[in-house]
Amino acid sequence: MAVVISGKELAKSKKIRMAEEVKGFEQAYGRLPHLAVILVGEDPGSVSYVKGKEKACEEVGFINTTIRKPDTISEEELLNIIDSLNKDNLVDGILVQLPLPKHIHSEKVIQAIRKDKDVDGFHFANVASLYLKQPGIVSCTPKGILEILDSISYPIEGKHAVVIGRSNIVGMPVSKLLLDRNATVTICHSRTKDLASITRQADILVAAVGRANFVTADMVKDGAVVIDVGVNRNLETNKLCGDVKFAEVEPKASYITKVPGGVGPMTICCLMENTIECYLKHVKE
Ligand code: GUN
Repeated sequence: MAVVISGKELAKSKKIRMAEEVKGFEQAYGRLPHLAVILVGEDPGSVSYVKGKEKACEEVGFINTTIRKPDTISEEELLNIIDSLNKDNLVDGILVQLPLPKHIHSEKVIQAIRKDKDVDGFHFANVASLYLKQPGIVSCTPKGILEILDSISYPIEGKHAVVIGRSNIVGMPVSKLLLDRNATVTICHSRTKDLASITRQADILVAAVGRANFVTADMVKDGAVVIDVGVNRNLETNKLCGDVKFAEVEPKASYITKVPGGVGPMTICCLMENTIECYLKHVKE
């Protein structure tokens, strides 16, 4: 039987601590942290993420602006919005919710965000900082995963971490963070041969595939720590589910996260932390 790590509870206590810190900001620096979120279209997943971000901003005491635009918005108009947010000295963080409609060049939009307002950690400069071990904004989901491992005081050094998925948002940066903590890291992907023989070697298994119930019990070593990053919709039940077949993997694992209530709340919590980091840089400049 595994211990189910509640990202929701962990995020809740971290947000309470952040709210305490934020309370003193107005007096110390004359204003509160301000996060601006841009939501294009009405993708249900994105709408729900953005609602979660708005709620978290309220909980920790930030100013939040959500700019909602139809999916017919042009790339130029979107870039103009980012330009004015970049120039606004009262905005600390800018987040463009992904995915964007196909006619918009996502990378161009993301890279238009000023690097010191890039709370997602997606700007080239922040990505480079991560790979060169320099100070910078670390993207939220990978940072949240490391915080989950630290919450159980898991000794990462020397352990074999297997990451399934090589995305820029999760797979690649979480692999680098684990490597920096002296784990031995294997990155698996859709072309990996005999995936199960590799995942079975994992002390830490991070599933970031985006496929419901992809990780089954036969792919997991006894006593592994299993981190489920997936956010999928189960087509039979219409419920949110992860990449891990929880019911059969949980008895084999020592620790496991659940979907929902696992990595997701920690991603939002780290977004709040990144916004504070940007804010403190701005007010101390
Ligand atoms: N869509 C899914 N995950 C993310 C994320 O971490 N950041 C942004 N901006 N969009 C997302």
